[in-house]
Amino acid sequence: MFESIPGLDADPILGLMAAYRRDSNPAKIDLGIGVYMDDNGKTPVMAAVKEAESQLLASQQSKSYIGPAGQAEFNERIAQLVFGSDLTASLGERRCTFQTPGGCGGLRLAAEFINRANPNGKIWVSDPTWPNHVPLLGEAGLHIESYPYYDQDSHSIRFDAMMAALDKAGPGELVLLHGCCHNPCGADLSPQQWQAIEELALRNGFTVFIDLAYQGLGDGLDEDVYGVRLLANSLPELIVVSSCSKNFGLYRERVGALTVITQSAQSQAAVSSQIASVARGIYSMPPDHGAAIVATILGQPELLQKWDSELTQMRTRINNLRTLLVERLARAGVARDFGFIQQEKGMFSFLGLSKAEIASLINDYSIYMVNSSRINVAGINPDNIDYLIDSLTTLLLQST
Ligand code: LMR
Repeated sequence: MFESIPGLDADPILGLMAAYRRDSNPAKIDLGIGVYMDDNGKTPVMAAVKEAESQLLASQQSKSYIGPAGQAEFNERIAQLVFGSDLTASLGERRCTFQTPGGCGGLRLAAEFINRANPNGKIWVSDPTWPNHVPLLGEAGLHIESYPYYDQDSHSIRFDAMMAALDKAGPGELVLLHGCCHNPCGADLSPQQWQAIEELALRNGFTVFIDLAYQGLGDGLDEDVYGVRLLANSLPELIVVSSCSKNFGLYRERVGALTVITQSAQSQAAVSSQIASVARGIYSMPPDHGAAIVATILGQPELLQKWDSELTQMRTRINNLRTLLVERLARAGVARDFGFIQQEKGMFSFLGLSKAEIASLINDYSIYMVNSSRINVAGINPDNIDYLIDSLTTLLLQST
């Protein structure tokens, strides 16, 4: 059965992680996979997470099954974090939230559910988007179409072209938007642009699906969900998948959530029963530990504050690194203008390098980045910045 199955190339992002680990160059730099790193190049367990874990260790009485929807406390508290308490209250029974195995689990659960409600429907994704959106959504049966989003030459959002493409989307079609900190380009929609999308969705009747993987890593916990809250407040239906991998640093614990907002409270029972049945058929139930940590943190004001201030430090560090990178490149005499990096949000930006330049950075300098020239800004630190700037300067001066 398995003798003729063809092998596949490594995943474009996970393969980089493995290649970086194999590289014996002591000067190597990891700007690849989207994992937050501190000034020491480490991805530490957050102090609030450690504290919640020790509370759980002392208090947990059972490891019995929790069910396909996960923990009710987690679902309620994550909804409050994403939508805020007023909107959560006003959505009332029109909202259901399911704990999922990470953001990926949430995206797949959503896609399988959508495919039941509207088989073989179309989903519009940004060009570019996170590469894993394609298998996560497409292998569930959705047809993927792309809309223009980022202009590599002007380093800005192609908003008019995006709106012209989305004007073709109608009822039964979905439009996937990145809630904040766009992955891979870091260029986020402005409030006015979110408002224009809101109007278009209301006029054309397509369903918006928001992937929210970086809440708190752009401008702030509330600021980063401006668009999510705007649309949740006015559209009849909405899908939001949120992740706790980055903002709680819980990557390997796999914590995420799928929220579906329906037009009427009456349809929630049917929707919830379908989502529960899809989850049961894929993984039965989400893992508990990471979600229990999040529920513990969000449920205690002191822990919540501790986590919020750790998250603020992470965000501030990333934003400072953006400024530092731009300043250092300019000071080193690089003629290309990298100022756009300062305006972009979250962990990622494109450096705008050619395939040959990227290959040279990886092979000749051991500086790892995704083959689109996406860098994880958080991978820069005081120990590697000189080597990074020297290498980029040498490479860019050679190619001018
Ligand atoms: C990334 O984009 O690097 C992260 O979201 C990690 C992943 O799974 O690809």
